[in-house]
Amino acid sequence: MGMQNEKVALVTGSSSGIGLETAVMLANAGFKTYASMRNLDKSKNIREIADKNNLPLYVIQLDVRDDGSVKDAITKIVTAEKRFDVLVNNAGYGLFGSVEDMSMVEIKAQFETNFFGVVRVTQQVLPVMRNQRYGTIVNVSSVGGRIGLPVLSAYHSTKFALEGLSESIAFELESFGIRVIIIEPGVIRTNIINSSISAKKAQDPKSPYFSLTQKLDNSFKMMMASPTSLHPQEVAKVILQAVLSENPHLRYTVGGDADALIDARKNLPDVEFRNIIKKNFSS
Ligand SMILES: NC(=O)c1ccc[n+]([C@@H]2O[C@H](COP(=O)([O-])OP(=O)(O)OC[C@H]3O[C@@H](n4cnc5c(N)ncnc54)[C@H](OP(=O)(O)O)[C@@H]3O)[C@@H](O)[C@H]2O)c1
Repeated sequence: MGMQNEKVALVTGSSSGIGLETAVMLANAGFKTYASMRNLDKSKNIREIADKNNLPLYVIQLDVRDDGSVKDAITKIVTAEKRFDVLVNNAGYGLFGSVEDMSMVEIKAQFETNFFGVVRVTQQVLPVMRNQRYGTIVNVSSVGGRIGLPVLSAYHSTKFALEGLSESIAFELESFGIRVIIIEPGVIRTNIINSSISAKKAQDPKSPYFSLTQKLDNSFKMMMASPTSLHPQEVAKVILQAVLSENPHLRYTVGGDADALIDARKNLPDVEFRNIIKKNFSS
């Protein structure tokens, strides 16, 4: 049974990358942290970190695509803790492929995890936060929630949708003392490049978009491997700082690349901005 003064946090997709680092950082900061993941076989790494550092961190099964799994996990936490302070909606993956090459099944699967997964978990947590009249929801979007690159239209669409959801519910929830925070990382060195999926048709060399898809895939691999790409701890730091802030902003970007792209998007006419993207990603 949790003690009333221990703040409780849940992070989705904690098996690697940003989710893992965020769960560890929240636990280090004293939050009783539930590091959730769909596949508990991947929990060895985070369990070792928690044991070694004696952290208040507990691993729990949660697949954001599965109503039952989400409900079970939230019920377990609320029954044990009787409070729920912070939800970090982080689970996600990328889908490469032109809009013509992606099947509806592939596109829907992308939304099921990156967007409906957030809705599903948030809906389970909100009644608790609303009744206690406090809580913080952190949605891990992306610089890709503000700009679109070629052959990633499904991924961008999920993140644009997440931005719209977050902006909108921030208004609904404010009067109940619930804060909504959007995190927009640039390129972060995580497992996402391996966990991302290429649409089946996009892998066919006969696809008219094959070379463009390959080019983007290679660009991302190179950006991830570059010494300038950030460690996921940098995102975790921003999340912790936002969560601990008295008056958090709605949006936080992470990384010089994210700042530069969002600034350019804001300050340049569409035609100039599109030229920059074309020069860097699609010519
Ligand atoms: N890395 C970047 O450059 C970058 C930039 C901007 C935004 N982001 C966003 O950051 C978030 C985390 O990504 P990451 O870079 O840390 O990648 P990652 O290392 O691949 O981590 C993604 C996490 O999401 C989990 N996940 C995927 N599907 C899930 C599901 N159905 N239910 C529960 N968990 C699921 C993965 O679990 P499994 O291990 O089981 O697959 C993994 O734990 C994503 O939302 C991503 O869009 C990343």
